[in-house]
Amino acid sequence: MTEALLDLQDIRKNYGAIEALKGVTFSIGMGEVVALLGDNGAGKSTLVKIISGGLEPTSGRILFEGKPFLARSPAEAKAAGIETVYQDLSLCTNVDVVANFFMGREITRKVLGIPVLDERAMEREVAKALADAGTRIPSLRANVEHLSGGQRQAIELNRFVHWGGKLVLLDEPFAALGVEQTRRGLDMIRQVAAQGIGVIIITHIMQQAFQVADRIVVIRQGVVAGDVPTSKTSPDAVIGMITGETLAGTGSAG
Ligand SMILES: Nc1ncnc2c1ncn2[C@@H]1O[C@H](COP(=O)(O)OP(=O)(O)O)[C@@H](O)[C@H]1O
Ligand SMILES: [Mg+2]
Repeated sequence: MTEALLDLQDIRKNYGAIEALKGVTFSIGMGEVVALLGDNGAGKSTLVKIISGGLEPTSGRILFEGKPFLARSPAEAKAAGIETVYQDLSLCTNVDVVANFFMGREITRKVLGIPVLDERAMEREVAKALADAGTRIPSLRANVEHLSGGQRQAIELNRFVHWGGKLVLLDEPFAALGVEQTRRGLDMIRQVAAQGIGVIIITHIMQQAFQVADRIVVIRQGVVAGDVPTSKTSPDAVIGMITGETLAGTGSAG
């Protein structure tokens, strides 16, 4: 087996007396899509926040690209190539697509010795990145506030791929999207993974997990209750793991 992109080893998290995570162990490879499933309160969001630098684990070890890793802030995780995509939170809605894509990385050229933004060069680069990914946005000069939730997600994901991202975390990304936008979002996840990027997606919708994921990891009461290739399980079996009716359908952990 090739080296995992992200390796979580015995991750525990206590909130005061509440043991939200009681020793979670699983890994994700490059280009792999893992659907993280579990009932409300199982610990999914806590786990994602730990990976993305929003929360410190109480104990446990994380390896990222084979090296010990602990992001102390979302910015630190992002700098390492780990990004969390929310519905629309991380785009600036009052500026256009190009400005969002280049936020903090603007291309400048000199006019009479003074650096000015090279809008044409940036627009060309964004247009190419989006075209390469098969994403169509009506106007790159439209303020992001005029774009749909699905288009915003597409821009975020493409921006992430463009700047060398390695792992994307999506916590219930399609909750506010319609059927067609969700379908495009799922397609995009496969495209992102095809470029070698790892994807962890939390979803409540079983059908989405089976549509998009290579592997399903079930968290139940703070522990991994199942870790199975999607092709080797069924929605009924996964529901059993979520509710605890069937005991662990594990088998792909090692
Ligand atoms: N900030 C917090 N303070 C105290 N308890 C929390 C906090 N966040 C989550 N929990 C508890 O930790 C457990 C796991 O929550 P969470 O990770 O949000 O689960 P999930 O995302 O699977 O619904 C739950 O029992 C929840 O009530
Ligand atoms: Mg949650």
